[in-house]
Amino acid sequence: MCRLAWIVALVFLLAFGGMFYKFVLSGDVVTTRDGRKALQLSPGERALVLAEMRQFLAAVQGIVKAVNERDLKAAARTARAVGQASVKTVPASLMGKLPLSFKRLGLATHQAFDRLALDAEQLGDPEHSLGQLATLMQHCVGCHAVYRIDAPAAP
Ligand code: HEC
Repeated sequence: MCRLAWIVALVFLLAFGGMFYKFVLSGDVVTTRDGRKALQLSPGERALVLAEMRQFLAAVQGIVKAVNERDLKAAARTARAVGQASVKTVPASLMGKLPLSFKRLGLATHQAFDRLALDAEQLGDPEHSLGQLATLMQHCVGCHAVYRIDAPAAP
């Protein structure tokens, strides 16, 4: 009896460990010929991630323009629009497919936009904001170097 209980516990532990690895750490990725890891997403999930990406790009453009015009209030507004509060609830199915490091990089990017917004409001220093943007964009470059998205052709 006691041995059976141990075996059952072990099986549960392994299953739990496997699920934890799959859904929290590794995500659903395939290493591709160009050396990047391809997230395996459905067409809808891919569209969701890419739409967020285009918002990032628009925000970067808006911030550069606002800082150039010395309008740091506008820079703050633009940055905050892609801050953490902007993150829509991501479906659990998509969360499970994203590797932990991808999620962390994404979160760090949203947080960095919030930081930029706060400093732009409080310091009003264009040089400082531009420096923050340059640092923040290392997240964009870093993530794009490692990941891409594969999805079956949309119907
Ligand atoms: C956590 C990872 C990650 C971060 C951080 C990230 N991206 Fe992306 N981005 C991706 C992936 C993956 C793709 C899809 C690339 C592919 O399939 O070749 C992508 C695609 C894009 C696209 C193409 C969108 C489209 O419609 O095709 C743009 C534009 C973009 N990113 C801009 C940005 C900008 C600007 C930032 C930083 C402010 C950024 N991204 C930060 C992962 C990231």
